[in-house]
Amino acid sequence: MRLLFIGAPGSGKGTQAKRLAEERGVPHIATGDILREAIRQGTPVGREAQPYIAAGGLVPDDVMIRVIEERFARPDVAGGYVLDGFPRTLPQAEALERMLARLGRPLDRVLLLECPEEAVLDRITGRRTCEVCGMPYHVRHRPPRREGVCDRDGGRLVQREDDTEPKARRRLEKYRAETAALVPFYEARGLLRRVDASRSPEEVYREIRSAVGRAGGGG
Ligand code: AP5
Repeated sequence: MRLLFIGAPGSGKGTQAKRLAEERGVPHIATGDILREAIRQGTPVGREAQPYIAAGGLVPDDVMIRVIEERFARPDVAGGYVLDGFPRTLPQAEALERMLARLGRPLDRVLLLECPEEAVLDRITGRRTCEVCGMPYHVRHRPPRREGVCDRDGGRLVQREDDTEPKARRRLEKYRAETAALVPFYEARGLLRRVDASRSPEEVYREIRSAVGRAGGGG
């Protein structure tokens, strides 16, 4: 299974991609998580990315393409992968297509999670994320068993610095201006499937499973 999730910030990409990747035993490659970890560790990529993320903008394409090439050099992608958060611009999509062709690991499907803007704003501003594993929770829609603590590993749940309303609105503007262009790009390649992501996480997951059913093979 070689899958890509696209969709507005807060549409549920991380929630669904993480679950599907765990169920299928393939890596969940989320560029937002990779960048936040780089910032925590103070690496050169982290220092370069931090101001863009903090402002709700996009990290430059050349940095992101380097990040994804390094990630795909690891052997765990041989059995498939679930990509989430990359590409986000047309130059990134073109670079990804070239890289995957070179590696002989092209995408099987692209899932577009569609959700109205008022709903994604509510999801983003209510989100709390585990500091250890990155698992997203929501103060109302998906609370942890113990307030402020991750169910899986006991990590502290924190609010991301880009999850305030003004920054969420800026991220949505960026999505409309840059990332929405990926929809016709993947539609033209016959890869795109639309998923109604406004429903409950369980209902969304069921639809995703049926959309990827036949893309479930290895490699
Ligand atoms: P990233 O971490 O990828 O952020 P994002 O795309 O803005 O997506 P989110 O993480 O906000 O949302 P999501 O769709 O994953 O939703 P989630 O499942 O968490 O990137 C962060 C930043 O890094 C970017 O802004 C950019 O600066 C930079 N970056 C990363 N990749 C880049 C690239 N390729 N190029 C340039 N810059 C890049 O769900 C959201 C909330 O809703 C959670 O609380 C969840 O519990 C809840 N929820 C989920 N599903 C449902 C449901 N069905 N019903 C109710 N609640 C739900």
